[in-house]
Amino acid sequence: MAAVRGPRPRPGVLDIAPYVPGTSALPGARPVIKLSSNETPFGPSPRAIEAYLAAAAHLSRYPDGSARALREAIAKLYGLDPNRIVCGAGSDELLNLLAAAYLGQGDEAIYSAHGFLVYKIAILARGATPVAAPETDFTANVDAILAHVTPRTRLVFIANPNNPTGTYLPFDEVKRLREGLRQDVLLVLDAAYAEYVRRNDYESGIELVATTSNTVMTRTFSKIYGLAYLRLGWAYCPTEIADALNRIRGPFNVSGPGIEAGVAALADQAWVQFGAEHNEMWRDRMAESLSELGLGVTPSAANFLLLHFPSANGRSAAEADKFLHERRIILRRVEEYGLPNCLRKTIGTEDENRAVLDALSSFMRANGASR
Ligand SMILES: Cc1ncc(COP(=O)(O)O)c(C=O)c1O
Repeated sequence: MAAVRGPRPRPGVLDIAPYVPGTSALPGARPVIKLSSNETPFGPSPRAIEAYLAAAAHLSRYPDGSARALREAIAKLYGLDPNRIVCGAGSDELLNLLAAAYLGQGDEAIYSAHGFLVYKIAILARGATPVAAPETDFTANVDAILAHVTPRTRLVFIANPNNPTGTYLPFDEVKRLREGLRQDVLLVLDAAYAEYVRRNDYESGIELVATTSNTVMTRTFSKIYGLAYLRLGWAYCPTEIADALNRIRGPFNVSGPGIEAGVAALADQAWVQFGAEHNEMWRDRMAESLSELGLGVTPSAANFLLLHFPSANGRSAAEADKFLHERRIILRRVEEYGLPNCLRKTIGTEDENRAVLDALSSFMRANGASR
């Protein structure tokens, strides 16, 4: 009798290594300092929490499937056309919808070597081929990306700034990338950390989306807006691309409480400003102090730092991670990003940052003195 074969996923799906989020808990009841997922240490604006709580009165109703109120609030803040905004359950959903709409078997999509892992997963899930372009100094390299374009290339994903490296591409370089790509290649600029960037030569993507027909920018409420738990993101698109995404997304892909909290969060720009200022001050202080301990620190434009540990025995990233866990501190291991001897540290509150500094100072001293 012929063996019965069950349903099989499409080619590529079983090649996916499932995304493993940063550690969020440790055994035992004592509190932890969790700096592993680039969340804001301050939570959302109190106005967003209030709006979320008020939404509890309507839980039996479907939300507005077009998330109009949220799209209009985003459009007003940034001076955009609300019809070209598509909202999603986190920007993860939008990145996956873009891959679903524009990639299929036989297609290739490019990302930079240490780029955000969701890109590779989204590409493989469509049966397309992921192509990693080498970086220079942990930064996306426009020439390397262009050199990896083939007639099969359909899409390029760039996180700007990138997670987990924190590095960014200046606007001139992003424009050079767009100009070097064929017209039919979609460029996705993932600006999840845009609100944290304080550089004169940075542009999140709005201008390129406004002036080209083949560029999309994605944004999130999970970082500076402090709404990661709610899953809320948005994409600014050329009209035809917004239309394609709207055809394939779930009809109610953004929750009602998400819409309400998102609108209220956008209205509190003082909260955003406060978060960005705290981040800038502590990111720069931490980078300096951690370098003084003998760690390599990649210059970051975002709300986290990529720390490079010495290769000496006893001082590896894995050993530092263990040492920090013993002190109830959780940073992010980044081996699956091809960075086995690094840890990524989210910028926390002043107390959290000082605790990390003290712990890493002890780690480097303890393990330096013995050799
Ligand atoms: C570069 C980048 N893009 C997108 C996301 C996804 O964010 P979310 O799905 O929470 O909007 C993250 C989250 O860590 C990220 O680092």
